[in-house]
Amino acid sequence: MIEVSFSVNGAAHTLRVGPGERLIDVLRGRLGLTGTKEGCGIGVCGACTVLVDGRAENACLVPAASLEGASVVTVEGLSTDGLDPLQQAFLDHHAIQCGFCTPGLVMSARALLDENPEPTEEEIRTAIRGNLCRCTGYEQAIAAIASVAGTGARALLDEQAGLIRSSARLEAGVPFARTPPTSTPAPEGGDAR
Ligand code: FES
Ligand code: FES
Repeated sequence: MIEVSFSVNGAAHTLRVGPGERLIDVLRGRLGLTGTKEGCGIGVCGACTVLVDGRAENACLVPAASLEGASVVTVEGLSTDGLDPLQQAFLDHHAIQCGFCTPGLVMSARALLDENPEPTEEEIRTAIRGNLCRCTGYEQAIAAIASVAGTGARALLDEQAGLIRSSARLEAGVPFARTPPTSTPAPEGGDAR
């Protein structure tokens, strides 16, 4: 056993931890912070993503013994005053079904926006590539993150808004306006074929 001192969501902790103990074991089992989920347990699914010194890390891969002096933020620590804007955006964009992946996605997004407040769509996709979602898919999550981001991802939102408007027109039975085909002017001295 080794004694380590670190903070979680701003609260200081000193714990004796075993050699096989992981950060996720400490968070869920010893501190009761069950917002962080364990999916695969081997660093593949991203459900356990938390911030360690500002970086997105898989809590299932971080040895508790390595935490001396670290500052850990979990999904419970994102906001002390209601929902974090990212959490609200996930709700607003219907980016949640079962919700198991959501804390990890939100934490990856928070790490991205803290470092790069105006990411491009590609940068958002890259930031969450380690977060697997098996029921909602990724487009709503990307739109949610883009809505909180600055101008870099606005084109994506505009495109999605266009798709939503088109789909609403279809549901309402409104046909798309088609541009009538233009006749090709005949070249001088020839016919238009
Ligand atoms: S539980 Fe940590 S990456 Fe899957
Ligand atoms: S919302 Fe169910 S796995 Fe992502």
